[in-house]
Amino acid sequence: MVESLLECKAVTKRFGKLLALDNVDLTISKGEIVGLIGPNGSGKTTLINCISGFYKPTGGVITFMGKNIVNLKPYSICKMGIARTFQVPKPFLRLTVLENVMVSTGGDRDFALKCIEYTGLSEVKDVQARNLTFHQIRLMEVARALALRPKLLLIDEIMSGLNPTEIDASIKLIEGIRETGITILWIEHVMRAIMKVAERIVVLQEGRKIAEGKPEEIANNEKVIAAYLGERHII
Ligand SMILES: Nc1ncnc2c1ncn2[C@@H]1O[C@H](COP(=O)(O)OP(=O)(O)O)[C@@H](O)[C@H]1O
Ligand SMILES: [Mg+2]
Repeated sequence: MVESLLECKAVTKRFGKLLALDNVDLTISKGEIVGLIGPNGSGKTTLINCISGFYKPTGGVITFMGKNIVNLKPYSICKMGIARTFQVPKPFLRLTVLENVMVSTGGDRDFALKCIEYTGLSEVKDVQARNLTFHQIRLMEVARALALRPKLLLIDEIMSGLNPTEIDASIKLIEGIRETGITILWIEHVMRAIMKVAERIVVLQEGRKIAEGKPEEIANNEKVIAAYLGERHII
């Protein structure tokens, strides 16, 4: 048995009358790469916000390495080894790439440079974040997360708006990160990417988990096709 790293049990999140997450169960084993898909507003980002401590779930339990993290602050969860990217990135716009990443390393310049090189940003390391392209901002998000030396990386849509070449590069990057032993929970709308890389896919619809399985099972699941995939050719 592979050891489970993260366990979400009956995780529920309400915003007033809206049930954004409704009893979601999710287990992630060490070394796995799990894809999280579903229509807009289905609760994907909310789940990442709950796991990373930005939101406190209304109900349910989230354990990371056997410890309940539901009442911990984002900073403490991050220190335990969970890092994330943001669907809407929030870089320090007037800091350079290196300075941005050094915020995550706590001043360790050498490790920041390694993360920058790993994400392919060496050429722009001294460029202010406000002058980066959209793709470079996304890569810097990943570099900042890796600079925290996570055990679990939560990725929230780093491919939307990218061109096919940039998407291919991002696929390679994510595959490489997984090879370093980091476990990944990955939200993405670019089906050809997530279906190729993820070993297991979890599907949310209106806050509920409607399916879970291998990419090829999910691609042929009637419920998932009706709720999300439609007529698209996805693999
Ligand atoms: N802070 C919040 N306050 C109120 N409603 C929220 C908040 N965050 C998310 N929601 C709502 O929760 C639902 C799920 O949102 P979200 O998790 O962002 O969906 P997804 O990432 O799958 O597109 C949406 O209806 C969204 O409007
Ligand atoms: Mg989202």
